[in-house]
Amino acid sequence: MKILVTGGTGYIGSHTIIDLVQHGYDVVSIDNGINSEESILKGVELITGKVIKNYNVDLCDDAVVQSIFNQEQFDGVIHFAALKSVGDSIKHPIEYFNNNINSLLNTLEASRKNNVKAFIFSSSCTVYGDVKSSPVTEDTPMQDAASIYGRTKQMGEQIITDSANTSSLKSVLLRYFNPAGAHPSGIIGEAPKNIAQNLIPVITETAIGKRQSIKVFGNDYNTRDGSCVRDYIHVMDLAHAHTLALKNVLDGKQDRLVEVYNLGIGEGITVLEAIHAFEKVADIKVNYEITSRRDGDVEAIYSNYEKAKRELGWIPKYDIQEIMRTAWLWEKNRSVN
Ligand code: WQD
Repeated sequence: MKILVTGGTGYIGSHTIIDLVQHGYDVVSIDNGINSEESILKGVELITGKVIKNYNVDLCDDAVVQSIFNQEQFDGVIHFAALKSVGDSIKHPIEYFNNNINSLLNTLEASRKNNVKAFIFSSSCTVYGDVKSSPVTEDTPMQDAASIYGRTKQMGEQIITDSANTSSLKSVLLRYFNPAGAHPSGIIGEAPKNIAQNLIPVITETAIGKRQSIKVFGNDYNTRDGSCVRDYIHVMDLAHAHTLALKNVLDGKQDRLVEVYNLGIGEGITVLEAIHAFEKVADIKVNYEITSRRDGDVEAIYSNYEKAKRELGWIPKYDIQEIMRTAWLWEKNRSVN
């Protein structure tokens, strides 16, 4: 079975390619490197022993996308490619709508036209907006998106759902909570081309000396210690969920045209607890300072992942300590290479 991974040189895309290859799938990537380096596929090849073809093209170019689909004949598509910084999306809304929506429309239409059987969409817990209580289930009503990024994911889900009954394509919407950590080998990890914005790489960059200190965006929230609560999920647990979701469709086990699954570990920790968890694992003190809140941040959100467990047989294996251990291993390796 041949699978297209869009955004394959990105963080979650590259780790998912490893899991797909290790479960017997042939994989092709499309990624124009807007926020990643193609060299990450060298690491994927080192781990899997497989050379991964990447088409370095823009998914917003409809004609190019169509020609690749005609040529390759994919059985399944996993669509990761998107801009994903909550903070940046608020500053650059048109860029986010243009990139995230047009790349989805082109990939989805090419999948429908070329008899692709399974379409897995990289969605996000940000579609729930500023929820007032957690854990959230897949039935938790969506609030207004707290950021443009979240809005593009809500629109993406709506586009897939509203178009589903006009083709035989079956789709799966995977709502990630907070992806973090790195492949246990330390050979690949989160390597954004632009400055890291997510908490875990900010922690490891501070620990290794690339940053003076971590800015904790607010400690006046109504949480255990005043800082925001998130459900951090190891990128390899997340990767394997994609393989299981894909297999569930390709094996003919998904009845509905569109299914939705939360992917988190079902518990939340605060920003300060994450920092202290890192310090314990790495045996290093990291500097941090409390600053004002960040626009678009949600106070607290964590998942109920029982549906993925029941229907996909998915059970996350890694905890926050393993997230910190692998993230730190990757940061140290990245700094010497
Ligand atoms: C986490 C917490 C910040 C940086 C992410 C992805 C998004 C989506 C959802 C998948 C927040 C705080 C952060 C810093 C801080 N994932 N923080 N100082 O905003 O939850 O969104 O998960 O689709 O793509 O970006 O993640 O890591 O930016 O923030 O205090 O320097 O850490 O306020 O509470 P977020 P994040």
